[in-house]
Amino acid sequence: MNKVKITVSPAHTVGQTDERIYGSFIEHIGRAVYGGIYEPEHPTSDEYGFRGDVAGLIKELNVPLIRYPGGNFVSGYNWEDGIGPKDKRPRRVDLAWKTTDTNQCGTDDFSAYCDRIGAAPLMTVNLGTAGINEAKNIVEYCNLLGGTDYSERRRANGFEKPHAIKTWCLGNEMDGVWQIGHKEAYEYGRLAAEASKAMKWVDPSIKTVICGSSAPDLPTFPKWEETVLDCAYDHVDYISLHRYYNNNNKDTLSFVASPVDAEAYINTVISVCDYMKARKRSPKTMMLSFDEWNVWKHTCDLPREPWAVAPPILEEYYSTEDALVVGGILITLLRHCDRVKIACLAQLVNVIAPIMTENGGGAWKQTIFYPFSDASNNGRGLVYDIRTESPVYHCSYGEVPYVDAAIVKNEDGRTVIFAVNRSLDEEADLECNLSQVAGDAFLAVHTTLTSDSPYDHNSMNEPNKVAPHLCEAPKNEKGTLLCKLPPFSWNMITVQ
Ligand code: AHR
Repeated sequence: MNKVKITVSPAHTVGQTDERIYGSFIEHIGRAVYGGIYEPEHPTSDEYGFRGDVAGLIKELNVPLIRYPGGNFVSGYNWEDGIGPKDKRPRRVDLAWKTTDTNQCGTDDFSAYCDRIGAAPLMTVNLGTAGINEAKNIVEYCNLLGGTDYSERRRANGFEKPHAIKTWCLGNEMDGVWQIGHKEAYEYGRLAAEASKAMKWVDPSIKTVICGSSAPDLPTFPKWEETVLDCAYDHVDYISLHRYYNNNNKDTLSFVASPVDAEAYINTVISVCDYMKARKRSPKTMMLSFDEWNVWKHTCDLPREPWAVAPPILEEYYSTEDALVVGGILITLLRHCDRVKIACLAQLVNVIAPIMTENGGGAWKQTIFYPFSDASNNGRGLVYDIRTESPVYHCSYGEVPYVDAAIVKNEDGRTVIFAVNRSLDEEADLECNLSQVAGDAFLAVHTTLTSDSPYDHNSMNEPNKVAPHLCEAPKNEKGTLLCKLPPFSWNMITVQ
């Protein structure tokens, strides 16, 4: 049994969460759009062709922001192909994923869908094969009331009201040689600065995200960040981070410690931003947009014909160990909520996602659905700057605590503890004096997600194999909460 003590005080806080840390991502890749959110022939689809069963699951995740339409896809995308009468929209090759895009779902369709499900689009513009002109035109199309060519085209296409898209990503992973139109840092930094300027001249209320590195292990990190911020600091509001983890080395204890790497990555990017703030003598603090993160094993790419329409691509199955990594990263994001204002679980449906579907059939939840929905629905409010004393273990990230946690005072008054126990076989005996933040007379409810094997996963046939269950109610001893975190588990303890 590992003894773990958390110290929490109302005097020590990180800050308020920005709800957009519970964002997600839908790219035109595989069956994310076609067969995922959009499938007009599906029995649950609405009049616009969007699947009702999938929309229901997205609502359960309470996702406030969805990045769209890429990803690598966007770097070859002409957004004008995806607007207007559907029978006139061209079929185009997508060089990023070697498929054919039918353009049946585009900017208007997606923005209106977001509106219906209570999310906002985080729109990415093409800075690979396209440039300033296309970027400013799509802002005009989406955000101006009318009276100009592009805004009138939107109205003529049946969208009287502007989509009013607030936040825009300036391209995608432009540091990566795999990117269509990949650029050197200076080349991209200048283009991003000028694109952002022009887009903001069209609509001064928008905010923009400049591409940071695609991963911190690339040789150009963090010089890339320094250069692009040097070019564009005054013109942008956020810098992006992307990171995927896998257990391809079959080293579970190191894998579940991956959030330690995410933490170091965030800290380094903050340092570069603050160095640049000082160098620029700028009053502005650059915020972070961790707009692609997840587990991605790169092992499930299915064989397919080139230029197929919406073939199954990636289609990862997520296990319990993956859920612990996702939960651990959510804790890391909460711990940095003063600087990480946007984060997107990549992605939302099929490909690498918490929701899976069958074309024409059902939809089910992956293991990673649960930590995300727990945090998204119960982790909005004030994050405490807690201290967690936990025994440690040694792995490829060095000494790592078995238990990591975050505590959030939600806007409705509930105090919620999120905790991962990374030990494969030891329960953790958790003690936390909550009297200063929740009083002495609280009641607590504890749910946990664990399974017999770290590799257990859900599937269409066994959709509930790994799902959270209720634990024995935690004890309250004069304001001190006592409970047991099962071995290898994700936990949520709600106190009120
Ligand atoms: O999310 C899948 C891909 O991962 C995205 O298209 C790209 O931006 C990243 O490399």
